Amino acid sequence: MRSGFLDATPAYLGNKRRLCPLIFALIEEQLPRQSWAASRFLDPFCGSCAVALYAKTGGFQVSASDVSELAATTARALVANSHVRLQQEDVLALFADGHKNSEGVAARQVRAAFSEQEAGFLDRVLAAARERPEPKRSLLLLAITKLVLRLRPMSLLTASDAGAAIVGDYDRVSPRRLGHYLRARQLLSPDALWAVAQEVNKGVFGGRGEAGRGDAIEFLVGESGEVVYLDPPYPGTSDYRGAYGLLDELLGGERVSLPAPTLDDLLGASRHIPLLVLSYGGPGVDLDGLVSRVGRHRPVLRALAVPYPHLPSIASEEKNARNQEFIVVAGS
Ligand SMILES: C[S@@+](CC[C@H](N)C(=O)[O-])C[C@H]1O[C@@H](n2cnc3c(N)ncnc32)[C@H](O)[C@@H]1O
Repeated sequence: MRSGFLDATPAYLGNKRRLCPLIFALIEEQLPRQSWAASRFLDPFCGSCAVALYAKTGGFQVSASDVSELAATTARALVANSHVRLQQEDVLALFADGHKNSEGVAARQVRAAFSEQEAGFLDRVLAAARERPEPKRSLLLLAITKLVLRLRPMSLLTASDAGAAIVGDYDRVSPRRLGHYLRARQLLSPDALWAVAQEVNKGVFGGRGEAGRGDAIEFLVGESGEVVYLDPPYPGTSDYRGAYGLLDELLGGERVSLPAPTLDDLLGASRHIPLLVLSYGGPGVDLDGLVSRVGRHRPVLRALAVPYPHLPSIASEEKNARNQEFIVVAGS
């Protein structure tokens, strides 16, 4: 198994990086590894693309899609692209004079999300990256996005003290995070972006993949495959639109306003795919109830509750103890 490739994926809330070994061990129980190379793996909520990339290393032909521009950009850079890597010249070219005065989304976000220095840097490199042909365009945009996430403690663009840090009002910044904000200023440089680009390159390797952007139900109805992995947002929890809407805009996509599909609609739209793996959880969801909901659509083969704290360093201890992910494997 190739190592380090998950470093290429963006630090995305709700990513299933750490669950990948378990998810694929469960798949192997139903579908022997020897048949993976002849099978298609569908990931309609690909997010960071951690699971899609893991499937690609296993030999699956992977189709990854998501409604968010950030996720779709990641899929174009790493899932659909299997050969092209960033060179140092690609990064340096973003700093050529032509784009010095590009004013874009980041400039409009000054004081809301970015400092003037950050906005000037971001608009310039984003404008230059957008002019490159695919897949360099998506590779560069992914590297810039990873850098943007690094500007904020724990990748939280909506951190409560970010506004104060942006205007240099450090008295109102939590002392625990002050060092991060001060160090982050050094990230606005060609060297720092090239360091991130080399991380992105670790996710480029041989295999077969496709990338799309759109609603999961439409994707499922139009796709065929042997395995589908469903990882929808939990009902009533983490709002990806709030957390990543700004990144989607920076990348040139609009903020997503689609509601997440219901579990029953998703199970209905996946009925033609023989093996289904579902990640689910959130307040008010219990494993027995989930098993009987899935069981109304297809036979349940395995059901597990796995401890999986999200953002463990900022969630309360009590919340961490309750944070778990349910995984249900169902056949046809
Ligand atoms: C739990 S995250 C997926 C995380 C992903 N498995 C990973 O490992 O990074 C849920 C994803 O659903 C996407 N999403 C929300 N509504 C959607 C819809 N209607 N169609 C497709 N994707 C949607 C969000 O953009 C988000 O990326």
